[in-house]
Amino acid sequence: MIDPARVPRHIAIIMDGNGRWAKQQGEHRIVGHANGVPAVREALQGCSGLGVEYLTLYAFSTENWNRPQSEVNALMDLLVNTVVKELDELDQNSVRLNAIGDLESLPESCRETLREAMARTAGNSRITLTLALSYSARWELVQAARTLATAAAAGTIAPEGIDEDRVSASLCTAGMPDPELLIRTSGEQRISNFLLWQIAYAELWFTSVLWPDFRKEHLFQAILDFQNRERRFGLISEQVTPG
Ligand code: IPE
Ligand code: IPE
Ligand code: MG
Repeated sequence: MIDPARVPRHIAIIMDGNGRWAKQQGEHRIVGHANGVPAVREALQGCSGLGVEYLTLYAFSTENWNRPQSEVNALMDLLVNTVVKELDELDQNSVRLNAIGDLESLPESCRETLREAMARTAGNSRITLTLALSYSARWELVQAARTLATAAAAGTIAPEGIDEDRVSASLCTAGMPDPELLIRTSGEQRISNFLLWQIAYAELWFTSVLWPDFRKEHLFQAILDFQNRERRFGLISEQVTPG
């Protein structure tokens, strides 16, 4: 049984396997992406019901721009249509929508839809749903380095004043707790340039389930597994659980 007192505050998910799911069905890859939407709903409802405060989903990486143009276009359309379609329900469920990444690189229609959805849900407090779009951790770290270097060059901060908190505050995730649990579907066991700084001590959970097949029960399995792990943070077992 999941211990409600020890549920992660922040869960991050690398939603992977849409293309393979579609292939198995003899469908075009984009059908797989479209069928990933119900899985997003399940993950969100599952997290929200358990009191998870932040859910961060890797939806489109910097590297994904290099996919065939038709797939990129279809993904952008799907994003806009899904946000438009789901917005009322998100708002009713007190979901605050957030987006991180190089948002400037998204088509204007996406940016506009995201801006409106974020503004409308800004006051919601049950759960923050963050979509990582045109995101990569290395891109984010370069941005942070530039921000800090600019401040140092302007004399606003001293180089020795740059500490872990300052770096964290210069990332797209400023103000959020680091994810304690990172889930990746589809059997791949890699990070693919996601939240490199923030997952320094996250527990990683991999499943062979393809993203369109992901349901609440898989989320609950991941959280149960998380709760059965000993998070030592460099200490020895006896220090973490005395006696
Ligand atoms: C994840 O599914 C969604 C995105 C990266 C946008 P994929 O499209 O990567 O699916 P596979 O890995 O090819 O099966
Ligand atoms: C990672 O999946 C990016 C997203 C889920 C958005 P990819 O399918 O792009 O990752 P690789 O290429 O297998 O590492
Ligand atoms: Mg993939």
